[in-house]
Amino acid sequence: MYEQASHSLLNEILNRLKEEISEQDLRHFYTRLGANFYAIHSLFSRLYGKRPDFEEQAQRLVETMARAYIQRAEPLRQIDIEREKDYNWFLHQKWVGMALYCGGFSGSVSNMEEKLAYLQELGVNLVHIMPLMQCPPGKDDGGYAVSDFRRIDPRLGQLADMQALAANMRQRDMLLTLDVVLNHTSDAHDWAQRARAGEKKYQDYYYTYANRNVPDMFEQSMPEVFPETSPGNFTWDPEMKRWVMTVFNSYQWDLNYSNPAVFIEMLDVVLYWANQGADILRLDAVAFLWKKIGSTCQNEREAHLILQLMKDCSQVVAPGTLFIAEAIVAPVEVIKYFGEDAVIAKECEIAYNATLMALLWDAIATKNTKLLTQGITSLPVKLERATWLNYVRCHDDIGLGFDNQDIERAGYDPNTHRKYIIDYFTGQFEDSHARGVPFGHNERTGDARISGSLASLVGLEFAIEKGDDRAIDDAIGQILLLHNILLSFGGIPLLYYGDEIGTLNDYSYREHAERGGDSRWVHRPQINWERAALRSEPGTIEYKLFTALKHMIAVRNEIDAFADFNNRQLIPVRNPHLFAYERYHLQQRGDTVLVVSNFDSKPQSLDLDEAGAWGQTAYGRLVDLHAGQSPDIINNTLVVPPFGFCWLSEMR
Ligand code: GLC
Repeated sequence: MYEQASHSLLNEILNRLKEEISEQDLRHFYTRLGANFYAIHSLFSRLYGKRPDFEEQAQRLVETMARAYIQRAEPLRQIDIEREKDYNWFLHQKWVGMALYCGGFSGSVSNMEEKLAYLQELGVNLVHIMPLMQCPPGKDDGGYAVSDFRRIDPRLGQLADMQALAANMRQRDMLLTLDVVLNHTSDAHDWAQRARAGEKKYQDYYYTYANRNVPDMFEQSMPEVFPETSPGNFTWDPEMKRWVMTVFNSYQWDLNYSNPAVFIEMLDVVLYWANQGADILRLDAVAFLWKKIGSTCQNEREAHLILQLMKDCSQVVAPGTLFIAEAIVAPVEVIKYFGEDAVIAKECEIAYNATLMALLWDAIATKNTKLLTQGITSLPVKLERATWLNYVRCHDDIGLGFDNQDIERAGYDPNTHRKYIIDYFTGQFEDSHARGVPFGHNERTGDARISGSLASLVGLEFAIEKGDDRAIDDAIGQILLLHNILLSFGGIPLLYYGDEIGTLNDYSYREHAERGGDSRWVHRPQINWERAALRSEPGTIEYKLFTALKHMIAVRNEIDAFADFNNRQLIPVRNPHLFAYERYHLQQRGDTVLVVSNFDSKPQSLDLDEAGAWGQTAYGRLVDLHAGQSPDIINNTLVVPPFGFCWLSEMR
């Protein structure tokens, strides 16, 4: 959009920049800047317009973008142009992701290259390597307490290894996802050190206070994220002699985004990693970016403005790079991280589907789909050109972030029901085989979350210990059942490393002084490659899981209706153990697929007349695309095996 004030400011800025960048070919940069500048200027002035240094900061913002564009390597610029043309590229069903800790998976960044073949064997072509940036050993929060945003943790490798890996992945048509920890730095970061040493400029990079007045005001409405290990939201720094806001661990200092210098620094970090060849950047803890007295300091309007501004600026320099929003918040809030009042995504193109994740765990515990169906019915439809990251496990704990009203609509009392789920997964009932470990128990609110590997949570650890083959099969069945949903629901499935071979809880963290209090380490494994080799030995658990997942991924790739164009229709069915939806192809109506999943340990049936047109087409004309054969249908009633599922389609 053309608007005079912003346009003349842009002209002034570009004139001043001219000398420095006149030698460069900046055609694409100018076109994109021209297209986005009105939005950039409006957002920047909405956030920082009242400051006397506004114009100076605006100049720095444009300079930062121009420099990053100049540094962007030619192959990446080419990819930008290709992706601008094929703008729906990431909605295709061919993308299947895995999140992994490089240290636990391959040992180092350079060793990752030889493990790419393993991922490709499974069918994974998008890899989220958990944060790799330098952190102080022992005070690292699993990589999320960064002391240098531009250096790789020396224990994992060097920047050159990262660049080589990115190039190698590009050749294999694999996507690289890296983290940018936007919300905070480690207290060992240079900015924090300088703040500590008394530099006012850097104290303004954080929220620091001489006394408890402001912290106490904030505390009245701010919840605690790590109540057990790091209670409260402020930490006294004896050297600085000030309180500093530390929402997560006491060594993670929250950045102050009401200071434009912080925004510009962090934009520079985002563009730096885009320029290292990351296809996707996972923006950590985005719900927390703006702090306001009297609020929970989560999901504030300004946090969204910051993300929109980040996206608009990034589109000028690296339009091919996508953002993932890591906002593990209530369903109505998550959806806003795609951008509000927009048609296509204007904040993050991808968001963690924490709602689906929590609901799936509910269905596993209760063996019924009442809350799952209710929760998905209430999930707002997302924007076009935006997609979910569907997952069951990740490196974090499982929070039961579903909506209280939905719990009530499903016929339960919210408090009792949540307590039931926690007790179930921490193995407090006779009939529960789950081996979860509590996380983040809050004495005051009674709130709790769960850690544990997927395999241990669905009873594999228990079953192996007891030598119970039937229970082993049930656990394998549930792992596959959950992945069937990730792969067919619509969005990018994100597997978690180790789940493909049934990795159990690893309790060794309890012996590490600095990890002992954080049960999330129970599910951040070191891959045992001898066990992984068993994936080729028929009859082993590793074989059963790996082979089945590989097959499922291969079949998904062939089903166009599994691409994500908001083309899913939930089908409410009477049988409370079944979860059913239809995925349709936008152009070819005949290519519809009916996905039916059974969360019970016994076979369950579905009268196909309940599923609309499927009732008429049923007689002998349906095929289960996943099984590659006709499903069990007796008199128009579909029978789904225990923890089984089918992907039904009309036979051609
Ligand atoms: C994100 C990460 C989590 C980390 C937190 C603080 O939620 O996923 O592991 O503890 O941010 O950085």
